[in-house]
Amino acid sequence: MQRIVILVSGRGSNMAAVHQRCVAEGWPAQVVAVVANRAGAGALAHAAAQGIATAVVEHQAHATRQAFDDELARVVEGFAPDLVLLAGFMRILGADFVRRFEGRLLNIHPSLLPAFPGLHTHRRALAAGCKVAGATVHFVAPEVDHGPIVLQGVVPVLAGDDEYTLATRVLASEHAIYPLAVRWFVEGRLRVEGGVRVAGLAHPSAPCACRAWARARARRPCPCRRP
Ligand code: GRF
Repeated sequence: MQRIVILVSGRGSNMAAVHQRCVAEGWPAQVVAVVANRAGAGALAHAAAQGIATAVVEHQAHATRQAFDDELARVVEGFAPDLVLLAGFMRILGADFVRRFEGRLLNIHPSLLPAFPGLHTHRRALAAGCKVAGATVHFVAPEVDHGPIVLQGVVPVLAGDDEYTLATRVLASEHAIYPLAVRWFVEGRLRVEGGVRVAGLAHPSAPCACRAWARARARRPCPCRRP
């Protein structure tokens, strides 16, 4: 049984999506802990309600980034993870932390990397006139929002989109691709060889974001109007 620890800062919808699919699909894995850098993170209550252990390492309680990273690493190691997921974790982790968990540290970023690393990805995609947007699951490397790409989900940018509508469409895609990438990891199917290889797949492609909308039982249909 692979042990998954998820780091969060906010509402935790990606964390919930991974946990739900892990249980529903009977992965050889278990989400053993959710760790937040803010005591008020909504994800903590959701995790606790699901019977998942929670912990808080407040970044503000630490004088330096290194001190925060060290304490976070100590708490995470305490759960003996095989895999650590960043799921809306809004702190930049130092190279020591990243190296310590290298090869077992995944992140989801709400853009089609290498476009738009960092913040305000949807605003920047709209300002650039992008016709598609999306999200990326990648292994974490010391440089922020870099590292070998596992899977990407693409959604259309539609006339009249604003940051909210685009973010909502991208988030539905995130909820489809992150669990899939994590499933591949815990099934031992991922290998980093230059790029990321997935055993049994010639070329990994993302599940359709439209189906993700249906799965999420969104009240509104996917605006791309594909079946
Ligand atoms: C997601 O869009 C994620 O890609 C980004 O922050 C958001 C977190 O959402 N890094 P949630 O906390 O998983 O709901």
